[in-house]
Amino acid sequence: MSLASVSRMEAKLLLPTYERQPILFVRGRGVYLWDSRGKRYLDFLSGIGVNALCHNHPAIRAAIKRQAGRLIHVSNLFFHEYQAELARLLTQISGLDRAFFCNSGTEAWEGALKLARAFAQMKNRNGHKARWRILAMENSFHGRTFGALATTGQPKYRAPFVPLVPGVTFVKFNDLDDLQRKFDSSVCAVCIETIQGEGGICPVDPEFLDLASRLTKRAGALLVLDEIQCGLGRTGRHFAYQHYGVLPDVVTVAKPLACGLPLGAILTTDRVATCMHPGMHGTTFGGGPLACAVAIEFLRAERKLLKHVRAMGEYFHAALEALDKRHKSIQDVRGAGLMQAVEVDSPELAKAVTKQLLQEGIIINRTHETVLRFLPPYVIQKKHVDQVVKALDAALHKNEEPTHKKEKITSARRKEVHAHA
Ligand SMILES: Cc1ncc(COP(=O)(O)O)c(C=O)c1O
Repeated sequence: MSLASVSRMEAKLLLPTYERQPILFVRGRGVYLWDSRGKRYLDFLSGIGVNALCHNHPAIRAAIKRQAGRLIHVSNLFFHEYQAELARLLTQISGLDRAFFCNSGTEAWEGALKLARAFAQMKNRNGHKARWRILAMENSFHGRTFGALATTGQPKYRAPFVPLVPGVTFVKFNDLDDLQRKFDSSVCAVCIETIQGEGGICPVDPEFLDLASRLTKRAGALLVLDEIQCGLGRTGRHFAYQHYGVLPDVVTVAKPLACGLPLGAILTTDRVATCMHPGMHGTTFGGGPLACAVAIEFLRAERKLLKHVRAMGEYFHAALEALDKRHKSIQDVRGAGLMQAVEVDSPELAKAVTKQLLQEGIIINRTHETVLRFLPPYVIQKKHVDQVVKALDAALHKNEEPTHKKEKITSARRKEVHAHA
């Protein structure tokens, strides 16, 4: 089928939820994708962080083939061989004790919110004062289901669907005073993306995460981290919170876990898990044998790649900072490991650069209007980084308008500006 016929049929038959680029992908191998016309693309987005091991990875292909020939699905009424082993690997690398498996990021987050409320209710029954409020962050993104939307601090995602789940208060991200002011004994959970992804690759400040950790610990509330985009090796550690020396009570993961098969997980402590009993939460498909067998292979590969992710991340970040010095339109360069971003000074420029790179066969994306986001596979080499940075340099030169050339605000100067705001 051609691009034209697929896009015509989709326009007639699908809910109009996506504004797709006019490209029909038909295969992938390594860090490359090919479209229906045979054009090759360097993939610096990895299906928004999913194809972390690259396309058509031999170990993943073999695991899918092996497991598909044995058992694809068994209901959660019975045991299969892989959930316990996958939970063992995830708890080992996270420092947490228990896992629950589901199908997606939003579903993992939804389950984490349920866990927070259930844990609080259990404590309420023990004669404590009622806790039910959830503190979530402005500029965050947690998914598209109702609970996830209720905690997503960006009005554009929420507005069409109000009223949402009640009991959520938003805190200004990284604002210590605001967190302190809004936290009280009615709060059951503080929810944070360790690095805000859709919000423009904004890492939580160490002081802010530390305060959230101390407040929740002291009050018996939960620190709930969303690492659906930034977790599982993306930053060069298994979890982004491991850069901060903080251990959450609950963490959610998904995107790269089963290399493109739908799988998410909630990880938590033994203490929190005591609030759950059979029948309180569940899923038909979540944690099936095929996805779990693949996830075990993913984690085997991920641990061997962490050092490489850190090295490539540093190389990439340094190259982007060098670009920052040459382009007035660049407002900031930020990120960790292979989760990097360049913020430019207008949505039009971000759009034009993304489009030009795509024409040249490089896939990145624009998030939060003005942020160019890079989530390449963990296996990229310096030559791939060089190619992307060179193309970016040219695309910025070509598309920067004279009106873009305002006062250059470097990252350091930006922090100063915020401090005085
Ligand atoms: C931080 C974060 N949380 C939750 C989600 C939702 O995940 P999913 O699209 O798998 O439901 C995303 C997706 O982009 C995300 O980046």
